[in-house]
Amino acid sequence: MCGIVGYIGPRNATPIVLNGLKRLEYRGYDSAGLAVLTPQGVQVRREVGKLHRLQALVESEPLAGNLGIGHTRWATHGEPSRRNAHPHLSETGKVVVVHNGIVENFLALREELAAEGAQFRSDTDSEVIAHLIERFLSREADLVEASRQALQLLEGSNAVVVISTLEPDKIVAARLGNAGGVVIGFGEGEMLVASDLPAILEHTRRVAFLEPRQMAVVQAHGAEVMTLERRPVPVQPTVVPWDPVAAEKGAYRHFMQKEIHEQVRGLTDTIAGRVDFEGGKVFLDSLNLTPALARRVRKIFITACGTAYHAGLVGKVLLERIARVPVEVMVASEFRYADPLVSPDDVVLAISQSGETADTLAAMEEGRRKGATLWAIVNAIGSQAMRMADGYISMQVGPEIGVASTKAYTAPLVDLYMLAVLLGDLRGTLPEAERRRLVKDLRLTPDLVGQALAREEEVMAVARAMKEVRSCLYIGRGIDMATAYEGALKLKEISYIHAEGYPAGEMKHGPIALLDEETPVVAIAPQGPWYDKMVSQVEQAKARHARVIAVATEGDELIPPIADAVLWVPPAPWLLSPVVTVVPLQMLAYHIAAMRGLDVDQPRNLAKSVTVE
Ligand code: AGP
Repeated sequence: MCGIVGYIGPRNATPIVLNGLKRLEYRGYDSAGLAVLTPQGVQVRREVGKLHRLQALVESEPLAGNLGIGHTRWATHGEPSRRNAHPHLSETGKVVVVHNGIVENFLALREELAAEGAQFRSDTDSEVIAHLIERFLSREADLVEASRQALQLLEGSNAVVVISTLEPDKIVAARLGNAGGVVIGFGEGEMLVASDLPAILEHTRRVAFLEPRQMAVVQAHGAEVMTLERRPVPVQPTVVPWDPVAAEKGAYRHFMQKEIHEQVRGLTDTIAGRVDFEGGKVFLDSLNLTPALARRVRKIFITACGTAYHAGLVGKVLLERIARVPVEVMVASEFRYADPLVSPDDVVLAISQSGETADTLAAMEEGRRKGATLWAIVNAIGSQAMRMADGYISMQVGPEIGVASTKAYTAPLVDLYMLAVLLGDLRGTLPEAERRRLVKDLRLTPDLVGQALAREEEVMAVARAMKEVRSCLYIGRGIDMATAYEGALKLKEISYIHAEGYPAGEMKHGPIALLDEETPVVAIAPQGPWYDKMVSQVEQAKARHARVIAVATEGDELIPPIADAVLWVPPAPWLLSPVVTVVPLQMLAYHIAAMRGLDVDQPRNLAKSVTVE
């Protein structure tokens, strides 16, 4: 959701903070601002809308200083406006705050402060934090102690960053609960604070992450970390492998298109170092999976949101078919409140690209409360989900900037496939010959995706024919039912065309009433166990005069005569089919949205990481 950047050091903070916010734009926002301590005192610039508007304001009213903080805001309390944009100041202006998350008890705190005579300039919960800190400052506490006492009063998940004119040599940063993280960057004679890595990586790759209920005092020469109870915490910076250049668009028009094409490299990376192709074995060391635990697992509950949930649906087929383990898949926003029948012999497996999705983290906490083993398949290094889990599998596909998830969909499919092979092997439910075949098939995957990507021109032709439709149905069966859901989500979230994924067998139970010349059907019909059924599904749709776009296996002779268009994919083992069949659907959604002139990387109302409920 919101983005935070802070800088302290010998350089001018203004361009560093602004550029850092730009690298966090993908998180989605509707206003932005920064505050810099200048020789004339604290200067604040805030603007509604995109960062280029704030940039223009700063160019017309420059500000410079060695200490600054900035914020991109995704409105929760108070509409997007200059007065509600961060940073927020205390009454005297001596305390400046930026904040991610929701202060759940802010009304009570605001009333208490108002009763003491406080005047508020905004409708936000964040401004209350600045007033609280100033209240404790006036009671002889220094900035760190005043911040600590104020933060202890806040309820809910929050990340808070504070500077003050009274102590211009430091930034105070704190993390309460699972709200967007706080990462500290260790530069040479300068330090940074941010809500996510991309804002820091061009300056340093030495970073440390705050845990919930920790706060940091950051000065130009370094940082000290403590708990909210002021117990010192050893600071151990790690070196992050992500290269800021990798997070640039390269030759592509949008991050999303780049990331679709990165999938060949991404799948190679997510397999790398984890498979012995000669021995036909899989290794997932970061999962901490022992043979005893593998044999003890009674059931796996997969929980996730959005695209990650769709990956979980594919995971169910893979884990049940290959490892013979019962699997239940539930969206995290339901799982967290469903009082699920999870036992200590079960695993709760979270899938999350950002590793910061509030619902998914809460679902993991529910699994923890039930005594389950927690696993996570995540992409963001050092994320909450990764650090909360008993074991994890990193997607290893590098930063995914486009809000619409693509490489962070196909990577977990392969990770789940490898997990199923490993579990089956350790549980003794997977014969060696079958295991060797599955591992051999895995090796083909990146190239199969590359072959599907090579047909982008054909997909663009279909996109041109579809770009004005108002509604669209995606249908699939078995392991490709999830592909239908995912294809529909891609189209709706970036092109704003209504699209619905449906189990193909369900068409005759209602949705077929929707079909006419105006409502195309995308049918996922590759060679595999459900092919014959899907051919008849295409015929049924054609009989209702719907245009049918079929995803079909190269060489197929039955489908071209009955479909209006075909999106070809190479032959693939059916257990890996979803990794390949989703590729034309990703490109289809991308090109339709691009042809409609929409903001593909930052669709309206969406954020890359939904860190609030
Ligand atoms: C997918 O294209 C969307 N951006 C969204 O559904 C996303 O998958 C969901 O919010 C989960 O995000 P996560 O993987 O970071 O937890």
